[in-house]
Amino acid sequence: MPHAKISALGCYVPSGVMTNQDLERIVDTSHDWIVERTGIEQRHIAPKDVATSDMAVEAARIVLEQRGIPANTVDAVLVCTVTPDMLFPATACLVQNRIGARGAWGFDLIAACSGFVFGLTTAAHFIMGGTHKRVLVIGADTMSRILNYKDRATCVLFGDAAGAVLVEATDDPAEAGFLGHLNEIDGSGGDFLRMPAGGSRMPASHDTIDQDMHSVHQEGQQVFKYAVRKMYEVSRDLLAKHNLTINDIAMLIPHQANRRIITAAADRLGIPPEKVLININRYGNTTGATIPLATRDAWTQGKIRKGDIVLFAAVGAGFTVGANLWRWQMDSPNGPPV
Ligand SMILES: CC(C)(COP(=O)(O)OP(=O)(O)OC[C@H]1O[C@@H](n2cnc3c(N)ncnc32)[C@H](O)[C@@H]1OP(=O)(O)O)[C@@H](O)C(=O)NCCC(=O)NCCS
Repeated sequence: MPHAKISALGCYVPSGVMTNQDLERIVDTSHDWIVERTGIEQRHIAPKDVATSDMAVEAARIVLEQRGIPANTVDAVLVCTVTPDMLFPATACLVQNRIGARGAWGFDLIAACSGFVFGLTTAAHFIMGGTHKRVLVIGADTMSRILNYKDRATCVLFGDAAGAVLVEATDDPAEAGFLGHLNEIDGSGGDFLRMPAGGSRMPASHDTIDQDMHSVHQEGQQVFKYAVRKMYEVSRDLLAKHNLTINDIAMLIPHQANRRIITAAADRLGIPPEKVLININRYGNTTGATIPLATRDAWTQGKIRKGDIVLFAAVGAGFTVGANLWRWQMDSPNGPPV
């Protein structure tokens, strides 16, 4: 059976920065409140003419260049997003066409903040099933397009970005990357975090616009409590399933929704702070892109090295919950681009 490994990683972050001070001028909030309650100091916002596929293409191109392969050798393109350019065609099709991945198939994967972890799991199984050699997994979201900048409880939380990895087949057991997963969905929590309108239940109308139904609606405390509990439980249970402990892990790379969620879950796991990647201060919650962005930081800062075991964990709207264990198989980067 072939093994799956991550063989390239690239990210794209739009250059425009929105600081907490910028938000103070838009809604009734303060830098201190945002930092204390979330850990976020700034987020990047895409210009008006940049959509999710544009950022996804940039990240995908970095991955292909880094790996030194033509796009037409990619077997499948998965775009994990809740902010596709449009409902259809899939953003995966737009990206496939723009990068020139002729002959590939693919699809959009809607799992919100767990999207990238679900994408990694899916790609690994495509590879291990022997039917795919190269799968491009992209997490990309332009959250600024679905925020209500009058709702201070949500608009301060999110930013825009894209990140991508190539998941590739190897026959060498020493090169095996994917070790295992534990993913769940729990629709009983669906009402706590959602964008109510724009689908078949509530198509766009003057009413849905007047009632601001095309933006993120969230019961923050419900999501917070669930996220802490599940991020902890799924990480604990996945480690136990593989007879591993926190000591075997080089780094926990969690979804970046709120610094307090991450530290509370990490405390319960008993993992020391230096083994927990947090970069929410710079990017906010970029939904599908947080884990590749955090992985890039861990990799380029030398916090994960070839052979290390990395634990990815995420909780998102749905609810969706995911954890993956991967052995990191990439050498340290030789400088940009990543
Ligand atoms: C949204 C979140 C930061 C709110 O923090 P919180 O500590 O739970 O705050 P609360 O919702 O209890 O609100 C406390 C007060 O702060 C206020 N508040 C909310 N947002 C604020 C802001 N941006 N600036 C200032 N005050 C704010 C509330 O109105 C409330 O005021 P009140 O007591 O007068 O009613 C937090 O609940 C959270 O992070 N939830 C999870 C969000 C998430 O991760 N979503 C993505 C999932 S993947």
